[in-house]
Order: sequence, then C-alpha cells, then structure tokens
Amino acid sequence: MKKNIGLLTSGGDTPGSNAAIRALGKAAISNYDMNIIGFRDGFKGLMENRFVKLDNTMLSGILTLGGTILGTSREKPFSMNVDGKTADMTDVIVKNYHKNKLDALVCIGGNGTQKNAHHLAKQGLNVITLPKTIDNDVAGTDITFGFDTAMGIATEAIDRLHSTASSHHRIIIVEVMGHKAGWLALGAGIAGGADVILIPEIPYKTDVIARSILERKEQGKSFSIVAIAEGAISHDFRETYAELKKRIETAKDDKSLLKLKQEKAEMDILNTSNTIRLANRLQELTKLEARVTILGHLQRGGVPSAADRLLATRLGTACAKCLRKEVYGVMIALNKNRIITVPLEEVVGITKKVPKDHQWIKSARRVGTCFGD
Ligand code: F6P
Repeated sequence: MKKNIGLLTSGGDTPGSNAAIRALGKAAISNYDMNIIGFRDGFKGLMENRFVKLDNTMLSGILTLGGTILGTSREKPFSMNVDGKTADMTDVIVKNYHKNKLDALVCIGGNGTQKNAHHLAKQGLNVITLPKTIDNDVAGTDITFGFDTAMGIATEAIDRLHSTASSHHRIIIVEVMGHKAGWLALGAGIAGGADVILIPEIPYKTDVIARSILERKEQGKSFSIVAIAEGAISHDFRETYAELKKRIETAKDDKSLLKLKQEKAEMDILNTSNTIRLANRLQELTKLEARVTILGHLQRGGVPSAADRLLATRLGTACAKCLRKEVYGVMIALNKNRIITVPLEEVVGITKKVPKDHQWIKSARRVGTCFGD
C-alpha cells in the first residue's frame, strides 16, 4: 500500500522552504513511492481541507524560489480565527487527517509550528517536523534553514550603510529581526563589522553605547554602525519590566491586576519603538546625527542562499527516510553537521537564545565590538 503523506508550511515564510518541500517530495515519491499532498496556508488549510497533490511536475523548478509554494499562516489548531472568532479546531484537523487517509503529517516551521505539531501528535497523529526560521531560535538543532539567507541580506545592508554613515559622519542604527533571540543581529553584526551589537540576551546601557561611539570619534572615526536586534532591551527596561511581571503575579484583586496589565501593555508598545528612542538618545548624548534603518521583511524575501538550499535538502530527504521507517513525533535536526532526530518534547516551549559566553560574542568582543554592557 502506498503511504499518504500530508505536508504544510506554517509561521513566517522562510527562504529554503521550497527547497525542503522539493527534497521531501522528490525523495518520498522516487525512492519510496509515497503520495504527497500539500495543505495550503499552514494549519488553516488543513482545517479547511484545502490541498494540492504534489507530483514531480509541481516539485520541479522550485529549489531557488523564495517564500513557500504552499502558502503559510500563523494560525494554530487550538486557537484559530474562524469567521472573526477564535476557536479550537483540533477535532476538525484530526478528522481531515483521517478523511484523507494520511499515514503522517510533516510540518515545516519555527517554534510556533513545533508546538502546534506536538499538540497534534498528542491527539494521536503521526507527525514529523523540520526546523525553519530566519531567527535560528529552535531548540534541538544547531541551525534552522532560512537563517543563513537572512544573515546574508542583513550583512549586505550593513555593508551598504557603512559608506553613507561614513560620508555623513553619522550614527546609523540598523534594526534586524530575530524575535526574542539575537542570532541574526549578532551574526550579521559581526559579518558586517558593526561597531555596536545589541541583542536581547545582553540588556544594554545607552550611556555605555554613547561612550564607545565617542571613543571611536576621538580615534578619528566619526561614524558608527549599531546593529540592534528587534527584541533587544535596555537594562532599565528589563528591571522595570521584571518588577511589573512580579507585581502582576502577586496582584491582590482584579482591579489592580487590570491596571498592572494595562501598564505592561503600554510598556510592550513602548519597546516596539525602542530603536527610534535609542537613536534620539544617542544623538543627544554624542551630538552626532543619528539615522534608523529597519530591515523588516526584506530579510525574509527572495532567493535562498546555497547553504540554506543544502540544509533544507538534507533535512527534507532525511525526513522522507523517517517517514519510510515510521519514526514519528520527532523533529529532523542538524547536530555537529550530522542529521539526527529529536523528540518533539525536547523541542517545544524552548527558545534557543544566544549563550552569553558564545564564541561569536567572544570573537566580537576581541575585535572591539561594544555590546552596551
Ligand atoms: O519568526 C520570523 C520573524 O520574521 C521574526 O523575526 C519576526 O519577529 C516575525 O517573524 C515577524 O512576523 P510577521 O511576519 O508575522 O510580522
């Protein structure tokens, strides 16, 4: 009997997703004679039973394409937007899995997807995941595909910002994605030679950054590049935020709880304009002009790098092998350049952050990069 495999991509689109779809599909069809159907737009498509049969024709010519041919969404099985209301659609998803006589479901995505896939595995579905995100923050794997491409784009941006910063004797603050982890800002910051790198794992002090910029000026370098991760926070912010969270946990009554939650929501909003506020403050403290560049979704767009295509192909073909061996409830991962399987329980609920003593940080410090600490 031919095996029927469902496949979906979920979460933020990531370069290399199509390379993974192609690898898994081609290997499963040619080597193991499986049927592959691709659900549209992540878990939403699985809930609505919208799918396309993936054959060799559909899988051809997609290796170099950015985005995902299947479409994606951030919808979760247990909390899905249905006609403007949030509902738990797990049962419908489980029903569709059986209706399509699936032997297994492959979910390609980042931390949210791992959690959703694990949720479905707990309902008795045979699930395998592949780690994809530009943030590189999935636990259990050394690297996720998409990261290398995004790091290349952010590095090129930093390269280009150097000449304009230098010509105008300005501070240019470049905001890099990465959610709550600093991998992308750190990698691109080092590769692009940023003078200051700010990441969520190392809360920064604005006066320390200003001092390092002024020291550069004294050495005749009248410009500076600051690479800041979107999730980076100042030391003061972290203290106040932590205290607020503690007060929320110990709130005595509903009225004070509501007030504290409002305060927290205001602080969350404040942190989204963090980069602009930092630029203004550095301008005041250094008397140098400052400008901000937010790279945003540029980092997720376009052609995947060779390294991401290679990684996605290795993970995708290894996944086909696992499907044949019926190894389920696992994520296919890279460990010291070897492909391994990791139980989903060891992946979900963990954000892989940059260790403060990571070699990248040590190297950056040795070349004089300031981390604002
Ligand atoms: O997880 C990938 C990512 O690009 C993060 O770096 C970023 O915080 C987030 O997605 C942006 O999400 P969206 O595309 O939904 O705005």
